This record gives sequence, C-alpha cells and structure tokens, in this order.
Amino acid sequence: MEDQAEKLREIMRQKKNASGGDRTGRKSQSAGADGRAENSGMSRDSRKTRIITVTSGKGGVGKTNLSVNMALAFARLGKKVVVMDADLGLANVNVMLNMIPKYNLYHVIKKQKSIHEILVETDYGISIVAGASGFSQIANMSEQERQDFISELDTLSFADIIIIDTGAGVSSNVLDFIAAADDAIIVTTPEPTAITDAYGIIKIIAMEYDPVNIGLKLVVNRAKGAAEAKSVADRMTNIAGQFLNLKLDYLGFIYDDQSVPASVRQQKPFMVIEPKCKASLCIQHLVERMDKNRLVEPAGIGAMFKKMFKRT
Ligand SMILES: Nc1ncnc2c1ncn2[C@@H]1O[C@H](COP(=O)(O)OP(=O)(O)O)[C@@H](O)[C@H]1O
Ligand SMILES: [Mg+2]
Repeated sequence: MEDQAEKLREIMRQKKNASGGDRTGRKSQSAGADGRAENSGMSRDSRKTRIITVTSGKGGVGKTNLSVNMALAFARLGKKVVVMDADLGLANVNVMLNMIPKYNLYHVIKKQKSIHEILVETDYGISIVAGASGFSQIANMSEQERQDFISELDTLSFADIIIIDTGAGVSSNVLDFIAAADDAIIVTTPEPTAITDAYGIIKIIAMEYDPVNIGLKLVVNRAKGAAEAKSVADRMTNIAGQFLNLKLDYLGFIYDDQSVPASVRQQKPFMVIEPKCKASLCIQHLVERMDKNRLVEPAGIGAMFKKMFKRT
C-alpha cells in the first residue's frame, strides 16, 4: 500500500504539473510537461482519443461485461472503439468474445509484435487488445523500452474511444490507468462488500488526487431497479463528497438480468444477442449519457501513456 500510494502521488504530481490543475488545460498535455511529444511522432489526431477506464474495488462485479458492451454501444454511435484488456490476473475480454488471440500485450512489450499486429477485429465492429500477465513487465522496463512501447501505443490513436478493462482492487497498475484516463468508471453492485471495496478505491484516488481533475463516475451493476441503484449511488456520492471532498458522478445503473450470464456462457455480448434486454437498454442509456456529457476535450492517448510510464 505504501509503495502504491507513493507511485500514485508521483503520477498525480506529473498530471497536475502537466495540466496546471485544470482539466481545460489538458489539451496542451500532448505537448507534454516532459516535452517528449515531439519525439514520439504523435499526430494531431492522437489527441482526440477518449480514454475510459473501468475498474472496481471487488472482483466479479461486471467490469468486463460493462467494458465490452459499452464498446458495442459506442460503436453503434459510429465511434471507432478499442477495448484493451489490462486485467493482469484475469484477462478475459477475449473469452467473453470467444476469441483466442495468438498474441497479446506481452508480445508488444517484448517487441515481438507491433500493437497493430496484435489488435484483433471482432465480428461486432470493435477491436480488442488482448491482455496478459506479462503486462506487469511495464514496471521493469528500461527507459528506452518504455519509450518504444509508448510510441507503439500512440498508433492506437486512430480510435475515438479506448476502453480499458482493469483488474479489481488497488494495484499500482490499476491506479496508473485511473489517474491518466479521461473518465474513470467505478463499478459496484448493491452488495455491502462491493460498496465497501468501491469506497476503498475511491478513497485512495481522493487522497492523492485533485478531484476536480478526474471524471470519476459510478455505475451500479446488478440492481433490482432504479430505486435500489439510486440509494446505493446517493450513499456513495454523499460519503465521497462529505468525507473525501470528491465529486463522484452517478452515471447510471444496470439491471440484474439473466441475459448477462446467459450471454457470457454463449461467449457473445448481450448487446448483440439480446439487444432489447434490460441490461442492454441500460448500457445504451449509459453510453448516450457519456457521449452527451463529453464536456472536455480528451487529453489523448499519447499524453496518457506518457504520464503513465514516465518515472522520475
Ligand atoms: N447485470 C448483471 N446481471 C446478472 N449477472 C451479471 C450482471 N453483470 C455481471 N453479472 C455476472 O457476474 C459475472 C462476472 O462479471 P464480469 O463482467 O466478468 O466481472 P468482472 O470483470 O468485474 O470480474 C458474469 O459472468 C455474470 O454472470
Ligand atoms: Mg473482468
């Protein structure tokens, strides 16, 4: 915990320096506090990519289902979407889509493959970057390796949206992603254990971060209905505001819906096989809200990964 907190603090310092503590200043980040943008060959286009992380305190609350199905909903709005599987322990985006990619991020880090070679198009109009436990190697990369990796990731800037499905809990890796994203979605269910763990991760973010600068959003999954979800959300947003001085936006909820486990068993997203089920309609609603609420120009993928992997 100590280490992680220190690492996060460092990321936050960089982030604050880069943005001047003001989200509207983020546009200039791609020119970089570290001045490295010019070296990476990053194009103008690379600044428009919106990066959304999906995380939770507790595992099994629905992150991967949300990531994949949200991606589909964004694709239906005409966006180019990439889902990146950054769950170190349980990389399973590909399983949910019934795909067995030959290569994953590990091969990119090891320079055996380019990111374009590992990017897999699905049958559903979205692309995925498969994850691997080797992702943790990022922490041990040399400066040169890191630079090369960042240049590789810059090539994902063709995407309008990158959704990063992270692992649960407070690993430094997850925090890196949250800290650097345009929107960080925290997923919980109405279960007290999930709520407590979600609160735990929010607290860690709040401890080190200027809350104004992060688009922290809450999704309540597996709710019996709007009223139950709203009461969970109210409790959490109140506590976050009162004790952590952190603005947590309630993005919405997803019904507990048998179509979800059924679709997981079929290895097809519920948005595809049950587009009118309760869960699908909720996802659609969430995504429409996110699309409308896009008030701030995203920092862009180059800026994000530079922040993430810069170590001083
Ligand atoms: N809205 C929902 N309704 C019913 N079951 C759900 C719902 N969301 C998730 N689940 C169940 O929870 C399991 C875990 O979901 P998953 O997305 O893999 O969670 P995580 O990525 O957070 O570990 C799913 O396989 C499914 O059975
Ligand atoms: Mg998952």
